Amino acid sequence: MSYTDTPLIEVRGLSKSYRRQPVLTDLDLTLPSGIHALLGPNGAGKTTLVNILSTLIPFDRGEVRVLGLDVRRDRKRLQGMISLTGQYAAVDGALSGMENMLMMGQLFGLSRRDAKRRADVLLDRFDLTAAAGKRVSTYSGGMRRKVDIAASLIASPRLIFLDEPTTGLDTRSRQALWDEINALAASGTSIFLTTQYLEEADVLAERILVLDAGRIVADGTAAQLKERVGGSTIQLHDDAGHIVETLPTHGSADDLARQLARIAERRPDVSVTVRKPTMDEVFLELTGQAPADTATKEVAR
Ligand SMILES: Nc1ncnc2c1ncn2[C@@H]1O[C@H](COP(=O)(O)OP(=O)(O)OP(=O)(O)O)[C@@H](O)[C@H]1O
Ligand SMILES: [Mg+2]
Repeated sequence: MSYTDTPLIEVRGLSKSYRRQPVLTDLDLTLPSGIHALLGPNGAGKTTLVNILSTLIPFDRGEVRVLGLDVRRDRKRLQGMISLTGQYAAVDGALSGMENMLMMGQLFGLSRRDAKRRADVLLDRFDLTAAAGKRVSTYSGGMRRKVDIAASLIASPRLIFLDEPTTGLDTRSRQALWDEINALAASGTSIFLTTQYLEEADVLAERILVLDAGRIVADGTAAQLKERVGGSTIQLHDDAGHIVETLPTHGSADDLARQLARIAERRPDVSVTVRKPTMDEVFLELTGQAPADTATKEVAR
C-alpha cells in the first residue's frame, strides 16, 4: 500500500465501556484524508472516540490505526504527528495569550520567529490582538476558548482533532475558525472535528458521521444523509401559505415536469414549492433527537 493510500483513520470492532456501561459498541470506520465531522447528541460518545483516536485514553476491544500507526503500539510517534484541542479550554492562565501560542508553537517544533508570525495572524483572526499581552486568567470564557483553538492551529501537523471547537464562540470567531480549517485542509492537514451544529458539519465536512448511543448510525456527505431520510417533496400551498398537500419526488426534471403538469390541471388554485429535507430533520430522523442548537431555539421561543 502506498503512503497516500493509507487511510487517515482506520477503526475495526472498537468497543469501550466505562465500568459496565458501554459507550462505544463494535465501531468500524475508515476515513481518507480531508475534513470529517462527527455529529451526535450529548453523551453519544464523541469525546470518548476523539480521545481514543488521539491516544489519550485506553479502550477494551478492537483495532485503531491513525495515519497508519497503531494508537497503542506507536503511541509516542503518533503524538508527534497529531494535535488535539479538547472540549474544555486547556490554556495556561498564568501566561498571556501570546505566550500560550508561542508555547504551543515550540511544542510543535516551530522556530520562535515562525511561531510569532503565525501567532500574530491567528490572534488577529480571533480578535485577540488587544488582549494578546494580558494573562489568560483575566480573559472571558469565550476568549480563553479562542486562544485554545488558535493555539491548536499554530502548526500544521498531519491531523488536527477539534472537540466541539465552535461551542461558545461568537459568529465572527466561528467564521474565522471555519476559514482557518479550510486553509489548513487546503495545505494538506486533515481535520477531525466533533460538533452539535448540523450547519457546521454541512458547511465544512466532506463526510459526516452521525454517532448515537455509541454506534455510527449514518455516514456520508450531507447530500447523501438528506437522501437517506427521504428525497425532496413537492408542497402545495393555499393563499394563506398553509400546506394543503405534500407529494414525494426524487427531484429529476422529468418527474417534476410530470407531477407539476398534473397539479396544474387538478389544483390550479395552489402555489408550489419543492423542498429538500433540512439537516435538522435528518438528525431527528437518524437519532430520534432534535440537535442541541434547535432544542435551545425551541426553548427560547
Ligand atoms: N471518565 C468517564 N467515566 C465514566 N463515564 C464516562 C466517562 N467519560 C464519559 N463517560 C460516559 O460515556 C458516555 C459518552 O460520553 P462522551 O463524553 O464521549 O459523550 P459526547 O458525545 O462527547 O457528549 P457531549 O456532547 O456532551 O460532549 C456518557 O454516557 C458519559 O457519561
Ligand atoms: Mg463531548
